[in-house]
Amino acid sequence: MKRKQFIQSLGATAVGTALLPQSLVGHPDSRKPPKGKKTPEFIVPQGVDVSNSPHNEKYWGPVASNFIKPEGFINLENGYFSHQPQGTLAYHIDAETSINTQTSHFMRTAQTQAIEAARNAFAGFQGLNPEEVAFTRNTTESLNIIIMGTQWQAGDEVVIGDQDYGSMVESFQQAVSRWMIRLKVAEVPVNPNSDVEIIRAYTSLITPRTKMLHLTHMINLTGQLIPVMAITQEAKKINPNIFVVVDAAHSLAHTPLDMWELRNAGIDAIGGSLHKWLCNPIGAGFLVLKKQNIREIWPLMGDVSADRTDIRKFEHQGTRPIQSLQTIAKAIEFHRLLGSASKYNRLTYLKLLWIGNKQALENFGKGLGILNDPIYQANMNAVTDLMESGSFKLQSPLVPFSRGGAIATAAFTGYTPTELANTLMNKFGIFTVGIDHPVIQGVRVTPHLSNSTSDCIALNKAFTAL
Ligand SMILES: Cc1ncc(COP(=O)(O)O)c(C=O)c1O
Repeated sequence: MKRKQFIQSLGATAVGTALLPQSLVGHPDSRKPPKGKKTPEFIVPQGVDVSNSPHNEKYWGPVASNFIKPEGFINLENGYFSHQPQGTLAYHIDAETSINTQTSHFMRTAQTQAIEAARNAFAGFQGLNPEEVAFTRNTTESLNIIIMGTQWQAGDEVVIGDQDYGSMVESFQQAVSRWMIRLKVAEVPVNPNSDVEIIRAYTSLITPRTKMLHLTHMINLTGQLIPVMAITQEAKKINPNIFVVVDAAHSLAHTPLDMWELRNAGIDAIGGSLHKWLCNPIGAGFLVLKKQNIREIWPLMGDVSADRTDIRKFEHQGTRPIQSLQTIAKAIEFHRLLGSASKYNRLTYLKLLWIGNKQALENFGKGLGILNDPIYQANMNAVTDLMESGSFKLQSPLVPFSRGGAIATAAFTGYTPTELANTLMNKFGIFTVGIDHPVIQGVRVTPHLSNSTSDCIALNKAFTAL
């Protein structure tokens, strides 16, 4: 521990200062914490001798300590939304306290500046043009702006996937009733042998009448990542006029991909949530829409004050929690201390560990050059390969390579999804969620940065006991 330092990330970094709640600028008193209370700082081990290898608890243990964990059970259902590290939580509470103090003075004098600072911080983080970023409340709102705001003609065709998120499917179904468009549903293979299989599932449905293609980058039911950039490329070869929209709810700050990569690969619109893997407070989402497409999409909430080509026309939401937007820069700061690749590797490792599949663990360890590390070996020996059991059926692609990050789903013979989730909770104190979907049935398991390797080994042992 001698040479290890812990980065105690203060709010006033270059990014943090830009995003200090605007109401605090010039009002220093309102920022004073209550007597005896100190704003917690981020804890991320740094130094040459502190490896961030995914199996190193000396690094990930302190990272996990940023989060307040529930008492009495192990939470392995972190796909709904992420809890905030304490540094982010405190910053958010501070910002809310400040707005609560300034009330309408803040809204009338500093709100716009705060939103624009947040837009710049987020766009800078993701390599985007701020003029192509709108803030929404969540992915559902972002994608509804596109689906409901498109100028549909009867007979227009839309291609979606059979494992797309329910709210988007409902939104398209409503558009079918409202504008008589035609919905075509691609059957996405749960365990594809190659990208080509997935690309074909979509492109085989595209015709000259296809107006929109809706792709879910990471499927929430299984965690499968689909090759959205390759699908877009092939789809546009068949019909260059197709508008491609991507549901990136689980992509940001989970996969190592930045949103500029999707945007520059020909994808026309991207929607996502900041309260998922960026660990921002609940109630902030984003819509990335190419400049040339802004004019043609109607806003969900009536707006005639912004120019039709101005992305801000989508933000006509009324009074809303600006503190969630003010906290984005703080959430980015925590993410940057870890780095996208190391976070993705950690989450993937936690998934592989509870499943215990030797081949996947070996491939993963070899790829990162850590296979022969004694701790890696010891963890591998501590788990049972559940995929060797006839009762266990993994619903997520894993071998030879994991096509996903933290999320995986598994069924178990003799249990409905709800019975399995209840058994894991009631008998073993492990919280997961039962998924009962026409294509996927099982319990979905989603570890987080707040979980330890022993949490995942405990789930493996629970399944083994069953
Ligand atoms: C794939 C996918 N899309 C969209 C959503 C909706 O996200 P939100 O509830 O933040 O709007 C979710 C939520 O889990 C999701 O998993």
